[in-house]
Amino acid sequence: MHLLKMSDLNPSDIEKLIQTAKRFKSNPYDEQHRGFIANLFFEPSTRTKLSFEMAEKRLGYQTIDFSTESSSVQKGESLYDTVKTVEALGVSAIVIRHPKERYYEELEEAVQVPIINGGDGKGEHPSQCLLDLYTIHEEFGDFHGLNIVISGDILHSRVARSNALTLQRLGANVTMSGPSFWQDAELGIPYAPIDEVISKCDVLMLLRIQEERHDLKEDHEDYLTNYGLTQEREQQMKKESIIMHPAPVNRGVEIASTLVECERSRIFAQMNNGVFTRMAILHELVQGGISNESITKKCSI
Ligand code: CP
Repeated sequence: MHLLKMSDLNPSDIEKLIQTAKRFKSNPYDEQHRGFIANLFFEPSTRTKLSFEMAEKRLGYQTIDFSTESSSVQKGESLYDTVKTVEALGVSAIVIRHPKERYYEELEEAVQVPIINGGDGKGEHPSQCLLDLYTIHEEFGDFHGLNIVISGDILHSRVARSNALTLQRLGANVTMSGPSFWQDAELGIPYAPIDEVISKCDVLMLLRIQEERHDLKEDHEDYLTNYGLTQEREQQMKKESIIMHPAPVNRGVEIASTLVECERSRIFAQMNNGVFTRMAILHELVQGGISNESITKKCSI
């Protein structure tokens, strides 16, 4: 009923969401849905917030907006009471982004309408993962045997965590790259320098340096040369390989600015696919197409 982390979905749920998103991409309005969806963002967002809003409106839902600055969060109201209040108003689902990792643990039993995690600290970002899976599937038709490199600030990235473990579960060969001080050994994914893997990968997934989660502010002057996608590295990629990035992009840091919109870049395509993927998530969760039986907390990745 909730979508909180990627292990909530088994491979057939993921396949169903991809197929539903594909249907919405070819027919992007389905205004049969009635009711209200609340978008509670306790952290800044452009893509996730606006594309959920776009998805909700294309489905026929009305959106309930919220800002921490103008809400009773300013009077000290807790996340729990805020969410219970929104549920009591009669919404059909609640999208939440919050800086606290696993913020949802206190909510999952207490809230009866679907909660969709729009990002929990450096925990997970399941709707981003699903739109990334959609984009890869649209390109290659399958995940088995694909060589996927996820490169950058792995340690602080909820996108890296959701994507690496799910892509591995779906049969892809996942390698991490980037500075050793941002590696995350807990994930158990092999690491390699970018120059070792750039010519072999099918998908290069770059990550933003998550300054807001760093204790120290660093100078990233040499980052592009040492770890990022320069024009020289891009020229070593296979003809059919693609570049992805969840964005926002630090142009000239993770990737040379001119490559953000190059032919093999799917960065803006990812954002476009995000609308249809989020339509699919809302449609399947609220209508019960993906049910409590198929979303199992025991599904291990
Ligand atoms: N990719 C992503 O989550 O972007 P926003 O932070 O702008 O939502």
